[in-house]
Amino acid sequence: MRIFSGIQPTGQKHLGNYIGAIRQFVEGQDRGEAIYCIVDLHAITVPFRPDELRDNVLDTAAVLLAAGLEPERGRCILFRQSDVREHTELTWLLCAVTAHGDLNRMTQFKEKSAKQRELVSAGVFLYPVLQAADVLIYRAEEVPVGDDQRQHVELMRDVAQRFNERFGETLVVPRHRIPEVGARVMDLQSPEQKMSTTFGTEGGTLQIRDSDDEMRRKIRSAVTDSGREVTRGPGKEGISNLIEISAVLRGVSPEDVEREFAGAGYGDFKSAVAETVVEALAPIRERYLELVADRAGLERILADSADRARSMASGTLAEVRDRMGVGPPG
Ligand code: AMP
Ligand code: TRP
Repeated sequence: MRIFSGIQPTGQKHLGNYIGAIRQFVEGQDRGEAIYCIVDLHAITVPFRPDELRDNVLDTAAVLLAAGLEPERGRCILFRQSDVREHTELTWLLCAVTAHGDLNRMTQFKEKSAKQRELVSAGVFLYPVLQAADVLIYRAEEVPVGDDQRQHVELMRDVAQRFNERFGETLVVPRHRIPEVGARVMDLQSPEQKMSTTFGTEGGTLQIRDSDDEMRRKIRSAVTDSGREVTRGPGKEGISNLIEISAVLRGVSPEDVEREFAGAGYGDFKSAVAETVVEALAPIRERYLELVADRAGLERILADSADRARSMASGTLAEVRDRMGVGPPG
């Protein structure tokens, strides 16, 4: 089975990325042929600095390797999106079978364009078509993502289906893989919104590279409620979030966590969650700090993977062009 997912090289990767996506990427290496992509071309759809873009790509690569991706041992492919130019050509071809109205309805498009103070780029609008091309060009069957990408995966299914109906069976219609628990890790300071580097609060976003003490401080000062029960439920978004975080990182169910902390105070519960988080993320941070120093080594890994990705992508692109009557006969 072929698995594909992408991750943006913007800012610092946080606990939400780790729980919702990165953990699944690592585990995907055992379940199928896993292909992962650092999507620098998606990152340029919002304001960005050219001198930071390359660094951010290497930074994100180091986080993923530190978390357990092993492209050097052939357990996955990990490449930079812009290194495989076939993605951008397929994006344009897929625009022919993408409904303008569907793109207009995308929640992330609406949110991002409302928040953008300067130019609202056409890239923000076309973003989901590039994402569809990323997946469809590898004929991937499964797309591990967090909950916020549900709509984008729905859209790529529609695009693939419409292509196949119009031009003949060519593309694989992929399905999402969204974890049951932890698909939407919330901001620790503002638990009604998702944890996010761009839109979240500083104190409520737990970065993978935070020091142990910063992690402890952020968890201990997480916003909760005026109750005293360590249970999930309406009006208890903060505690529910901490329960889910703890459950996922310890590999138990949220009910197990509730049972374990029945009768405990919020203070004790938070301290326990803080230790769980530190235990999970500290080793990743340490490996990340070693890996990120070797820029040339990271570039080499990405380049090797890009060669492998390109050889898969070019076959699909040639077939799509041929089906559409684009270019000389194949
Ligand atoms: P991004 O950093 O936006 O490229 O997101 C990378 C992956 O992390 C995607 O699969 C997202 O769905 C996932 N993700 C981002 N934020 C969260 C969050 N707060 N909770 C769970 N998953 C998330
Ligand atoms: N849009 C995704 C995000 O912000 C990143 C992404 C780009 C992606 N291409 C992809 C995810 C293909 C899954 C499959 O998280």
